[in-house]
Amino acid sequence: MSDTASSLERDLERLLDQERFPPPPEFVESAEVTELEQVDDHEAFWADKAGALDWAQPWEQVLDWSNPPFAKWFVGGKLNVAYNCVDRHVEAGLGDRVAFHWRGEEGEERDVTYADLHRDVQRFANVLKDHGIETGDIVGIFLPMIPEVVVAMLACARIGAPHNVVFGGFSPESVKERMEVSNAKALITVDGARRKGKTAAVKAAVDEVMEGMPSVKTVFVVRSTGAETPMTEGRDVWVDEAMEAAAADCPAEPFDAEHPLFILYSSGSTAAPKGILHTSGGYLTGVAYTHKLVFDLKPESDVYWCTADVGWITGHSYIVYGPLANGTTSVMYEGAPDYPDKNAWWDVGEKTGTTIFYTAPTAIRAAMKWGPEYAEKHDLSKLRLLGSVGEPINPKAWLWYHKVIGGERCPIVDTWWQTETGHIMISPLPGVTETKPGSATQPLPGIDARVLTDDGEDAGTAQGFLTLNRPWPGMLRTLFGDDERFVETYWKKYGKETYFVGDAARKDEDGYFWVIGRVDDVLNVSGHRMSTAEIESAIVSHEKVAEAAVIGQPDEDSGQSVTAFVTLGGSQADGDDDTVNEIREHVAKKIGKLARPKRIIWADDLPKTRSGKIMRRLLRDIAEGKELGDVTTLRDPDVMQQLETKVKERQSADEE
Ligand code: PRX
Repeated sequence: MSDTASSLERDLERLLDQERFPPPPEFVESAEVTELEQVDDHEAFWADKAGALDWAQPWEQVLDWSNPPFAKWFVGGKLNVAYNCVDRHVEAGLGDRVAFHWRGEEGEERDVTYADLHRDVQRFANVLKDHGIETGDIVGIFLPMIPEVVVAMLACARIGAPHNVVFGGFSPESVKERMEVSNAKALITVDGARRKGKTAAVKAAVDEVMEGMPSVKTVFVVRSTGAETPMTEGRDVWVDEAMEAAAADCPAEPFDAEHPLFILYSSGSTAAPKGILHTSGGYLTGVAYTHKLVFDLKPESDVYWCTADVGWITGHSYIVYGPLANGTTSVMYEGAPDYPDKNAWWDVGEKTGTTIFYTAPTAIRAAMKWGPEYAEKHDLSKLRLLGSVGEPINPKAWLWYHKVIGGERCPIVDTWWQTETGHIMISPLPGVTETKPGSATQPLPGIDARVLTDDGEDAGTAQGFLTLNRPWPGMLRTLFGDDERFVETYWKKYGKETYFVGDAARKDEDGYFWVIGRVDDVLNVSGHRMSTAEIESAIVSHEKVAEAAVIGQPDEDSGQSVTAFVTLGGSQADGDDDTVNEIREHVAKKIGKLARPKRIIWADDLPKTRSGKIMRRLLRDIAEGKELGDVTTLRDPDVMQQLETKVKERQSADEE
C-alpha cells in the first residue's frame, strides 16, 4: 500500500469512530435554513409551500382526503408546469441564466439558458400539436441524456400531454411493453445514443418492435449522433425539421392541479411493471420545496449536479422539475463516470464549478474502488454539499465521500424516497441535522414517517415496516389504469390512511431512521429497481428454460446482484457457458442489460410449497450458506440437498 493510501485508510478509521457529524459551522453560517420548521397545521404548511409556484387560478381546497387513498391536492387550482419551470424565470429577467451546462462524453460543451428552453419548448410543443397530440394524450419518451430530453418533457407538460419516459438503458422490447400498456399515442426517440465511445442506432432498434405498438401513430426523432436512421413516411418525423416549420409561440394553458403530469413505470412484485401516476400542482410543490430545502439551494450562485438519468424518478424530480421550478443552474452529463477515463466526473465537476453534487452509493463505491487519486487531481473546492440516493449508503462509502470528495467540509444529505413518493421524504437538513453515516436521519417537515410492527403497533427501536401516515402533495395518485392494484399494493396492509412503503427500517433511540432494504420481491441493483418476477419471466421466455427463480444477493459493488436458479427444459442436463451467455443476452433483450443475472445456478428442481409456490426465502438462505430452517412445507424436501451441492460447486468455481 502506498503512503497516501495508508494515510487515507488511517483517516477513514479515525472517522469511523466519530459516529455523529454536526453540520460544519462554516456551512451553517451561510445556510438558508438553520432551524427545523414546526408544523402545527399540515394543510396550511403545504399551502404555504405551494405559494412558491405561480398559479393561474388559486385553489379552493388544499387537500381532499375524503376518499382515501385517493388524494387530491390544491383542488380547483390551475397552473402550467412548464410555465413554472421556464417562462416565469424568463419573465423575471433571468433568460440568460444557464439552466443546464450540458457536457458530452467526448468533451463537448453546450450551455442551455432559460431563454433557450423557452424558445425550444414552445416550438417542440407546437410540433406535438401539429401532429395531432392533444391534452391528455400519452407521449412516450425514449431518449439519452441530451438537452432535448428536457425540452421534450416540458413540451408535453406545456400542452398537458402526460409523458411516459423509458430509461435509455432499457431494451426496445421494454419500450414496446410500456407504450402498449399506457396506450401511448406517440413516441419521442433519437437517431442514436452514445455510450462510452460507441453509438447505438436507437431509432433503427425501436423500428424492430414498432409492430407491437399499434397505439403509437407518430414517432418523433431527435437528430443527435447522425446514426443511420430509417424513416417511415407518414409516421416518423424529424424533430429539428418540424421545429423549424412550427410556430414560435405556444401559450402555456393552465391545467387543473390534478391533471396528470407523467406516468413512470417501476418494478413491483409481479412481472407487470407499475405505471406510477403523478399529477401537476402537488408534485411540483413537493419537488420544488424539497429541492430548495434539502440542497440549501442558492439559485443565483449554485451549480447543482444530479448524476441520475432522467429516465428514473430522480431525474424527473431532481434534474428536471424541482431544479427548473427553482431557477437552478444544473450540470447535465451525457456519459459514464469512467469514460474516456476515470477522471470524467471530476473533470466536469471542476470545469463547471459544481457546488452541489447528488449521486448514488453505487457510484461512490465504484469511485472508491478506483482510488482517490482521480478526484484528488482535481480542484473540487467549490463543492459545498453532497447528496446520496437510491439505496442505503454503507458507512465506509459515506466516510470516503465525506473525506475524499467533500474534503471534510461538505454536509452529506442521505435522501430516502421512492418513485411513488415523488420527492424526498426522509433526509438531513444540511444546516440543521447532525448526521450519522448510513442513516437518512429524520422525516422532512410535513412528512409523518413511522416504523410499525406487523400488527401496526409502533415498533419502538426494533426493526419493522416503514410507513407514511399522512398524505403529502407529491404522492402517487394511483397506478395507471389499475386503482385496484394501487390499493392492494400500498394501502391494504395497514388500511387506507397508512401508506405501506415496502422497506424494512429501524428507528434508533434518537429517532433516526435506518432504512434496511426492501421487504418484497424487489431488487435494488446499483440503485435501480427491478422485480424478481420480471426477470424470471424474461428468463423463462428463453426456449431452453423450463423454470426460473431469481433472488438478490448482497454485492460489494452494486449493493445487490441478480442470481438466477434455472431449470432447463426436457431432459437437458446442466447448461454450459454458452447457455449462460444466451440467457443473459436474452434478459438484456427483454428488459435491458442492467437486469442480466450475474450468477446462474442450474437446478434440477426448485423448492416449492405443496401449492406450487417457489420459496425464494430458502433459495436466499442456501445462497448465503445459512442454516436451513423448516423445510417440511416443501413438496419435495430433497430438492434442498441437491441445490446446496449445486451452490457449493458454483461457489468453488467462482473462487477459482
Ligand atoms: O428501498 C428504498 C431504496 O430505493 C427504493 C425506491 O426505489 P425507486 O423507486 O427506484 O427510487 C429510487 C430513487 C428515489 C426505496 O423503497 N432507497 C432509496 N433511497 C434510499 C433507499 N434506501 C435507503 N436509503 C436511501 N437514501
